[in-house]
Amino acid sequence: MLKKLAISAVAALTLSAGGALAAGANGHVHDVDFSFEGPFGKYDQMQLQRGLQVYTEVCSACHGLKFVPIRTLADEGGPQLPEDQVRAYAAQLDIFDPELDDTRPRTPADKFPVGGDPKAPDLSLMAKARSGFHGPYGTGMSQLFNGIGGPEYIVSILTGYTGEEKEEAGTTFYENTAFPGGWIAMAPPLSGEDVEFADEHSNELHHEAEDVAAFLMWTAEPKMMARQQAGFVAVLFLTLLSVLLYLTNKRIWAPVKKAAKKA
Ligand code: HEC
Repeated sequence: MLKKLAISAVAALTLSAGGALAAGANGHVHDVDFSFEGPFGKYDQMQLQRGLQVYTEVCSACHGLKFVPIRTLADEGGPQLPEDQVRAYAAQLDIFDPELDDTRPRTPADKFPVGGDPKAPDLSLMAKARSGFHGPYGTGMSQLFNGIGGPEYIVSILTGYTGEEKEEAGTTFYENTAFPGGWIAMAPPLSGEDVEFADEHSNELHHEAEDVAAFLMWTAEPKMMARQQAGFVAVLFLTLLSVLLYLTNKRIWAPVKKAAKKA
């Protein structure tokens, strides 16, 4: 029995690890080693700041982040911008205020704007919405070690253009190896050297793609590190509790067992 259980557990683990990146059904998604993967993974603050820059300078023309409060840019564990930079960032984005019946600059208490292109989906939760395959038994082991696959999907989309285009019913579609179906209505948004990073980090296409994907993972899951830590403490606590209960149980029943042996 125990042997059978062990075999199926091992099988489930290997299967889930193998299926990790079968994400977008028939699109091809490649693995990326992000700093925030694994049980002790952490967001890389500089990478999130670069990703914010790519989002701001390129993606925000079409895509919104309407669920993300601007003040969270200052949060620990996130891009952690200084408060004055967060205020300045907010102030360059106008918002229509029904109370004033006029537009005003945003404050950190406001959220990011909705996107400029109604056909472009909001990106706030995209990295979670497109998370990958969980393995046939949903053990969660794959996510634990390889991450959830959503940011990999975003990187693969941004770097998966083949250069082919076609027009259908007045819309241009671009061939993309990661997008399910193979043709996406988004023109290649990045080609490399689209932004100039303050930390002089490489702005090759795949670096820009990884940085913006990491940033979008953070917008979708800003408290990932706190959650992982809480989970770790919980497991530790439960393990300790199990040991104590086992020992207590032995002790409580020891006299009874002794008596039973004598009889
Ligand atoms: C010129 C407008 C435009 C820009 C700029 C743009 N996108 Fe898009 N994006 C779109 C449109 C339109 C779609 C919907 C495409 C479709 O469904 O075929 C889309 C779809 C997507 C998708 C969703 C794919 C899916 O699974 O549904 C992702 C992810 C994405 N964009 C990321 C980005 C990122 C990251 C950037 C910045 C580097 C960016 N986009 C820049 C217009 C744009």
